[in-house]
Amino acid sequence: MNADDPVSDLTPLEAAAEWEALAGEIKDHDKAYYQNDAPRIADADYDALRRRLEAIEAAFPELKRPGGPSEKVGAPPAAGFKKVAHARPMLSLGNAFGDGDVIEFIARVRRFLGLDEDEAVEIVCEPKIDGLSVSLRYENGEFVLGATRGDGTTGEDITENLKTLSDIPMTIRDAPEILEVRGEVFMTRGDFETLNQEQEKAGAKVFANPRNAAAGSLRQKDPAVTASRPLSLFAYGWGEVSEPVADTHWDFLENLRGWGLPTNPLAERAADTEDCLRFHLQVEERRQDLDYAIDGMVYKVNRIDWQERLGQVSRAPRWAVAHKFPAEKAETVLNEIIIQVGRTGSLTPVAEFAPVTVGGVLVSRATLHNEDEIARKDIRIGDTVIIQRAGDVIPQVVSVILDKRPRGAKPYKFPDKCPECGSHAVREEGEARRRCTGGLVCPAQAVERLKHFVSRNAFDIESLGAKSIEDFHKYGLIITPFDIFFLKGRAVEICERDGWGEKSLNNLLRAIEERKTISLERFIYALGIRQVGQATAKLLARQYGSFKTWRDAMIEAKADDSEDYADLINIDGIGSAMAKDLIEFFDEKHNLNVVNDLDKELTVEDFQAPDTSSSPIAGKTVVFTGTLETLSRAEAKTRAEALGAKVAGSVSKKTDYVVVGADAGSKAKKARELGVETLSEQAWLKLIG
Ligand code: IVH
Repeated sequence: MNADDPVSDLTPLEAAAEWEALAGEIKDHDKAYYQNDAPRIADADYDALRRRLEAIEAAFPELKRPGGPSEKVGAPPAAGFKKVAHARPMLSLGNAFGDGDVIEFIARVRRFLGLDEDEAVEIVCEPKIDGLSVSLRYENGEFVLGATRGDGTTGEDITENLKTLSDIPMTIRDAPEILEVRGEVFMTRGDFETLNQEQEKAGAKVFANPRNAAAGSLRQKDPAVTASRPLSLFAYGWGEVSEPVADTHWDFLENLRGWGLPTNPLAERAADTEDCLRFHLQVEERRQDLDYAIDGMVYKVNRIDWQERLGQVSRAPRWAVAHKFPAEKAETVLNEIIIQVGRTGSLTPVAEFAPVTVGGVLVSRATLHNEDEIARKDIRIGDTVIIQRAGDVIPQVVSVILDKRPRGAKPYKFPDKCPECGSHAVREEGEARRRCTGGLVCPAQAVERLKHFVSRNAFDIESLGAKSIEDFHKYGLIITPFDIFFLKGRAVEICERDGWGEKSLNNLLRAIEERKTISLERFIYALGIRQVGQATAKLLARQYGSFKTWRDAMIEAKADDSEDYADLINIDGIGSAMAKDLIEFFDEKHNLNVVNDLDKELTVEDFQAPDTSSSPIAGKTVVFTGTLETLSRAEAKTRAEALGAKVAGSVSKKTDYVVVGADAGSKAKKARELGVETLSEQAWLKLIG
């Protein structure tokens, strides 16, 4: 066998033998590089091995194995970088897809701030750079720490790599003592093309798009490699600062430039919504001519005091929004429709098509949402379809080109059995999706629940990736989340699994050990109860305070006439459908057993309310009713919660205060009947100081 022989000359037997040899060799190099930090060959030679393996797999697809070396990503595991807790979270942005969403964004800002009609809201419009966000920390003018965004709360320390970017000054003058600058690292299209040509010449990895190239270049273990890559930066925000950075965002951008940090030259100030929309159009027209990828415009409320009042919802600020550009489209042939089974059993049809580049990214799959969507668009296997991709969202099939439909193509028949476990898949009235009724016997559901359990915003066990979960589940190493905490006893079996060695196992066991103490809100979220996302998990944690109080209340709430049920649906943000899912979850004995077992093994920390010890309304339950004059309802709620109060939707004996605005109706009356203290808006403001 000679590695230069064309793959097509190989007999199946030769191909299999060479594949086996290559896979073994790659595995050894992976171990040397990722686990022992001691690569034994040059990157280019390593990549050549991988390319040979991929070529063989392309010609002999039967050799491909799930979890085999060709499916493993080349990037070093995150474990290679030190974690950094961000002093202030790195937020993401809400999206606006059309003019209507932008109008609504500004209207919402106005409502929240309670602005008069004649008061203008100035907006700064900046291009949304398609790169990677980073945080740059300066102390006394010295660049001391650079980090990736990570999950927004914790990122990775890439200081040494960032130091190699000429756009990042190592020292700045006249800056606050502590200054965290946030910005986007990217690669220009020109630099990307040149880099790929060089990579190709060197027989090294070719990147799919500038964003991937930037990401790969930033996450290098060796800063010298990063230094050799052409990376750029636009700065646009701040994190922790020891003194105010400016009065307006616009002035802040100017300060950034003064400190030697590049900002995007296309930023503009807009006086109103129409102005924003005009800039959006203008920049979109120039989009193809720009030397860097952008995927929309970001609108930011200019006044920083207003930004502060607006605050954030979940992980996105209320004072900013990303107005995306329309999706880019492409044409391809639909080869297959596969059915994916989600964590709560819902069946999602996915289109598999001939790979095609859309908006600079090669895609071969798109979601078809549900069976009605397939019927409505009459999508058939073999059809030529138009697909689109907008930003990071999963590509979608927009329509079918009927003229190109092959003869004999039949309407798609949606399965009524779960493809994974064969159980009936039923569609309840009012539901868009069919759901597998297999529950705990369905391996697909179990695997998805496990993936959710270890995911970033839940238990965050990074080294248990999707592939390992599938593999460990298949071989009985992890059946329920509880088993994760007993992997220590299965070390020998784990080391036998592909890709696992002593070092990676030790890293995993350490990560698991660290996660044995977990906040109540993360714990609730990790359970993967239908409809219970992060925001709801937090609401529940805030309301019930401790794991046991929550669990007992959910069990008691089964009786709809119980006080616990009334309390549950009285939480502002929890409706009867969500309550039903929570109650059903606890009513399932297996679930309760797993939850109780977990409780025994773990330390679920009580909800950490912000320090409100000096707050006069800490722990009190408040109901707002009627129209408030100086505060919008949303702002009133946010402030009350920030001061440690719970905001409820209706009045009961447990309510401490009812804040009565103009034209209040039955709630004010009920408060008087129950003898609950009512306050005018002024009295309330005085109370909270
Ligand atoms: S502002 C709290 N401005 O978009 C404000 N973000 O989808 C959050 N991004 O994580 C960010 N260009 O990586 C902002 N001009 C810009 C941006 C920008 C790109 C990225 C950033 C952020 C993501 C949110």
